[in-house]
Amino acid sequence: MNTAPNGPATMAISIRPATRADTEGISRVLQELVAAGKRIRPSDQEFTRTQYIENPHRIQCFVAVDEDGAILGFQSLSTAVEGNVYGTPTGWGMIGTHISPRAAHRGLGARLFTAMLDVARQAGVPAIEAYIGATNQEGQAYYEALGFRTYRRPDGVVCKCYEFR
Ligand SMILES: CC(C)(COP(=O)(O)OP(=O)(O)OC[C@H]1O[C@@H](n2cnc3c(N)ncnc32)[C@H](O)[C@@H]1OP(=O)(O)O)[C@@H](O)C(=O)NCCC(=O)NCCS
Repeated sequence: MNTAPNGPATMAISIRPATRADTEGISRVLQELVAAGKRIRPSDQEFTRTQYIENPHRIQCFVAVDEDGAILGFQSLSTAVEGNVYGTPTGWGMIGTHISPRAAHRGLGARLFTAMLDVARQAGVPAIEAYIGATNQEGQAYYEALGFRTYRRPDGVVCKCYEFR
């Protein structure tokens, strides 16, 4: 952990909605995850913009930002539409969380979800699905810690669901 006075560990991190100006920073986080062997899906700016920032089904996309404005991670929530390729029940929220390896294990993922829960409640989604690779133990442990529970297992995938009580 970096404990330098102005190092990442001591910086104040803020959570705010993503804007188009964040495209490059979000893409960089995805590229860092690819380089770390934690992602195989696209990470370019066009994918970032269409998938997260200007996704027509976006409920919210939050970024975690340090004091210098650098994006350390983000979380997206979108509405599952009928016939979606993931097989998520129509109307549910679909969540994705990506934290830069240089900022992992510092509670950013948990903070993003605390903010997102409020948004999801206000949006009235009945449940949230996380669609996680079956070999992604870290992702599964993260969502399990937040209260998600496994409810279906498509080939090569573990789907965890968060239900509002
Ligand atoms: C999984 C991921 C989102 C976790 O983000 P994070 O900011 O490091 O998570 P946090 O520090 O907020 O951890 C919250 C809780 O999740 C659990 N957790 C997180 N990472 C974990 C790991 N590697 N192993 C076991 N549990 C883990 C812990 O219970 C943790 O609570 P604790 O620190 O009090 O024990 C992040 O590592 C990541 O982006 N991974 C690559 C992309 C990915 O797999 N995303 C999920 C599938 S979409």
